[in-house]
Amino acid sequence: MRFQNPSTGLARWAPAAAALAGSTLLSGCFWLDGPQSTFDPNGPVAREQLDLFYTTCWVTLVIFVLVGSALAYAMIKFRARSDADMHAEPPEQHHGNPLVEVSLIAASVLSLVVIAIPTLKAVWFSYDIPEEQKADAYEVTATGYQWWFKFEYPNETAQTVDAVTGKLVNAPLTTGSELVIPAGRPIHISLRTVDVIHSFWIPKLAGKVDMVPNRGNFLWIRADKPGYFWGQCAEYCGESHAVMRFRVIALGPREFNDWLDAQMAPARKVPLAAAPEGPRPKAQFAAYHEFRRNEPGYTNRFDASPLDAWRAQQLPDKDEDPALIAKGRELFRSKTCVSCHTIRGDGAVGILGPELTHVGSRTTIAGGLLENNRDEIHRWIHAPGEVKPGNKMWVNGYLLNNIKLTDDDEDALVAYLESLK
Ligand code: CUA
Repeated sequence: MRFQNPSTGLARWAPAAAALAGSTLLSGCFWLDGPQSTFDPNGPVAREQLDLFYTTCWVTLVIFVLVGSALAYAMIKFRARSDADMHAEPPEQHHGNPLVEVSLIAASVLSLVVIAIPTLKAVWFSYDIPEEQKADAYEVTATGYQWWFKFEYPNETAQTVDAVTGKLVNAPLTTGSELVIPAGRPIHISLRTVDVIHSFWIPKLAGKVDMVPNRGNFLWIRADKPGYFWGQCAEYCGESHAVMRFRVIALGPREFNDWLDAQMAPARKVPLAAAPEGPRPKAQFAAYHEFRRNEPGYTNRFDASPLDAWRAQQLPDKDEDPALIAKGRELFRSKTCVSCHTIRGDGAVGILGPELTHVGSRTTIAGGLLENNRDEIHRWIHAPGEVKPGNKMWVNGYLLNNIKLTDDDEDALVAYLESLK
């Protein structure tokens, strides 16, 4: 038996390998700037982390090429050329070449140093806001829940009813699933969790930091300019971990202040008197369909310009129905939604689920999973267990309290939630 000449074997596979590499690189052009791509940093922390990734990549690429070339050279040069080669005795074994060994150790140490210096620099940089920027820092707190994120603004206090005493108190402004920040300013985010370990990750702004029970963690981010960023829990935390998402909306200073003012106000109330005379058309929903796993839950329109979609979301709908909204408000109470959700100024003081005072102004619901529109709110309150398996609204709310909603109830609740701009 003869060994096949390796060059003919390799030559046969070369076009296939080239095609595979080419298609991988080409497809890379499409995902490298996707909504959760770390290759498209929009802030200094993410940029520092990407630079470190590239440094590491280049160093390892050089090592790969050197070692791979030496290996290929040895394989080809010392391959078996004849039957005699195949059955030859192995050459005499000896200790080796001290010069080569020492040089290889030195080269390894050198490449580790080349990686370690930028690594330490990036670790220090991403650990905390640089001293000279601290005076301008803005403070928020993010808390992980199974399976959504709560955001609090400790320096913006809004009047609310204490869930235990029932008295009016000042409490930090609170939102859920969407973190709105001023662009261009460093943001110091305290990371907390009420249950298990979650991990807070905004790929275009900063790498992951864990939210650990009974431990205060933090990270800082800065968005270069106004934008809309996707975030994701990055630590397995239960059955709906993969759909535990959030959004970060960075706004210019004036727009951010306008947003703060709107959020500090108590819940919007649509006056009944504004209802036009005569019967109104019933709200029309898309037919409910089974929720496919990993269905994106938002439309292409929303995908095209998320920041514009967010701005449009701040305005009340033109076709809202005050009578239906009033019915929804009543149902929100009678169906016990109030025991888990807070709606400031509208009697709901629960703290187990997300704050809903201005839920209508958010672009997403259900932990950043679904686009906030009639069809999706309907889908969410109709079958929360199918959208987000195991969630507490479904298990501890609907099932434990035996909450039943008719089609008309769902219409009214959707109208009410949508009106909370
Ligand atoms: Cu929270 Cu994964």
